Amino acid sequence: MTCTKTPQKIHLLFDEIAEYYDKTNNYISFWTHNFIKYLAVKNLDIKKYSTVLDLCCGTGDINQIINKISPKTKVINIDISTNMLKYAKEKNPKGVFMQGDSTSLIFKDEEFDYITMSFGLRNIENREKALSEIYRTLKKDGKFLHIDFGYHNLLSKIFDLIVLTIIKLTHKNLEHYKYLINSKTEFPEPDNLIQEFEQFGFKYVKKCDYLFGIISAQIMQK
Ligand SMILES: C[S@@+](CC[C@H](N)C(=O)[O-])C[C@H]1O[C@@H](n2cnc3c(N)ncnc32)[C@H](O)[C@@H]1O
Repeated sequence: MTCTKTPQKIHLLFDEIAEYYDKTNNYISFWTHNFIKYLAVKNLDIKKYSTVLDLCCGTGDINQIINKISPKTKVINIDISTNMLKYAKEKNPKGVFMQGDSTSLIFKDEEFDYITMSFGLRNIENREKALSEIYRTLKKDGKFLHIDFGYHNLLSKIFDLIVLTIIKLTHKNLEHYKYLINSKTEFPEPDNLIQEFEQFGFKYVKKCDYLFGIISAQIMQK
């Protein structure tokens, strides 16, 4: 069954899980998710005084990582969920966080040196619109970093079972996390995603797999 991903449903879903989102990510990734995000962002080789747009910023992990790697870089964060933004601001008191939809950005053309999106695109109903907004707002030669679950291999299926078991032990409402697993299964594998990005005009730069391909990051250039 295909997941419903209307912006209203997604907004509600992440508002409801915001409070325990970080803790759950730690449990299901055995505390590796932040290090993986760090390694992926490092690959961007972010220049001093550049501007980054982090879409689907969630609770602001990418903002924290960029502040560590490149303190002089300006980061603007966008998310659709009010509650995820609340926790992001608590974690990043000096950060710039705005509520918005990645499929309809308020920014002008070619405004950003880098755009990052981590575990976000999978939740967007109109992926084409989000990708064309990313392409539009990225400067020429600017880079787009996309991170999400990777290959639909045996390890990934074992991972799904571990996730469901952990969630069963720690939470009452399994529906949200069943959604996450279904959305993960429906999402294209990294090589198909790269082809999709290329159709929007992006050029392939690099792909990095983590945890034997359970997580994958792709870097594309405008
Ligand atoms: C799985 S979380 C990822 C959060 C964070 N980037 C991370 O890596 O932990 C997905 C986030 O995307 C946000 N989101 C989903 N659809 C969106 C949209 N159309 N525009 C902006 N944010 C969106 C959700 O509210 C949620 O915070």
